Amino acid sequence: MDEEKVILAGPLQGYTDAAWRQAHAAAMPGAVDAYFAPFARVEHGAVRARDLRDVATAAPTLVPQVIFRSVEEFDLLAGALAAQGHTRVDLNLGCPFPPQVKHGRGAGTLLRPRVLEAVAARMLAMPEVRFSAKMRLGVDDASQWRGALPALSQMPLEYVTIHPRTARQQYSGQLHTAEFAAAVDAIPHPVVFNGDIATPADIDRTAALPGVSGVMLGRGLLGRPTLAAEWREGKEWPASRRIEAMLSIHEAVLAARSARLTQPAQLLASMQSFWHFAEPEIGHKAAKALRKAGSMERYREAMRLISAK
Ligand SMILES: Cc1cc2nc3c(=O)[nH]c(=O)nc-3n(C[C@H](O)[C@H](O)[C@H](O)COP(=O)(O)O)c2cc1C
Repeated sequence: MDEEKVILAGPLQGYTDAAWRQAHAAAMPGAVDAYFAPFARVEHGAVRARDLRDVATAAPTLVPQVIFRSVEEFDLLAGALAAQGHTRVDLNLGCPFPPQVKHGRGAGTLLRPRVLEAVAARMLAMPEVRFSAKMRLGVDDASQWRGALPALSQMPLEYVTIHPRTARQQYSGQLHTAEFAAAVDAIPHPVVFNGDIATPADIDRTAALPGVSGVMLGRGLLGRPTLAAEWREGKEWPASRRIEAMLSIHEAVLAARSARLTQPAQLLASMQSFWHFAEPEIGHKAAKALRKAGSMERYREAMRLISAK
């Protein structure tokens, strides 16, 4: 496998917050080339304070993301991040959440080439920032990316990450491989593949797709945090080592989130949601026990049952 391929940790709202990113980076140093933060957005005419707090510490391996419906929103967001010292910013052109798409944000921007062209001009005026974009192939038709191609081509982009589904498909269903290949050919920027990567073999297969510069890991990395490190080592780790690493990351996330989420129910819910993605690693029974735990005490008990295995 070509060592030059990039391995990126993708953004997942509610999961890959600063607590998770720091815990993962500490446990798996150098496993991924960059961590993408969940999107920052404008609310009531200003950048949400908690979005800025999550990326308060700029680092060369941290890529904050912006979701916008207009040049004005883009300016507010990119300006605030640059002011915080960020030198990388990712554009969200793929969020499938209907209220966002309906308002022309996320995947909805793919259908608004004028906005994208105006944003491209603003990006060219910010040479100190390395921009990238993350997109789907369309809203309800996998060929709709073609309408955004002229604007995308004008943008100074380090990478374009493509999740080869439409917004309507959300996160499951057929990947549009032929349209993806056409997009790789047409887009004049390096393209990164994203979608359904769960094992080191999946990384090998997708990173080797023609013209692809690397992969972005999403749910697969949450469920198997050792995934990128295993791929770099060129061999799968035994289940016990993978689970041990996962549990230590979860302990660190729990400790960091405890400081921020003072309501026990909120803290518990924020940790329980992870286990949905880890079910293939820990099995249905253990995942269910963690998800159903009614208190932090029960949750810890269920965690101990996994570690005792
Ligand atoms: C709960 C959830 C939250 C997400 N939040 C974001 C986000 O903030 N920004 C973004 O670009 N993509 C977001 N995504 C999409 C993922 O980054 C990724 O593109 C998608 O899950 C497909 O990749 P995967 O199959 O490897 O998970 C989110 C996905 C999920 C399931």
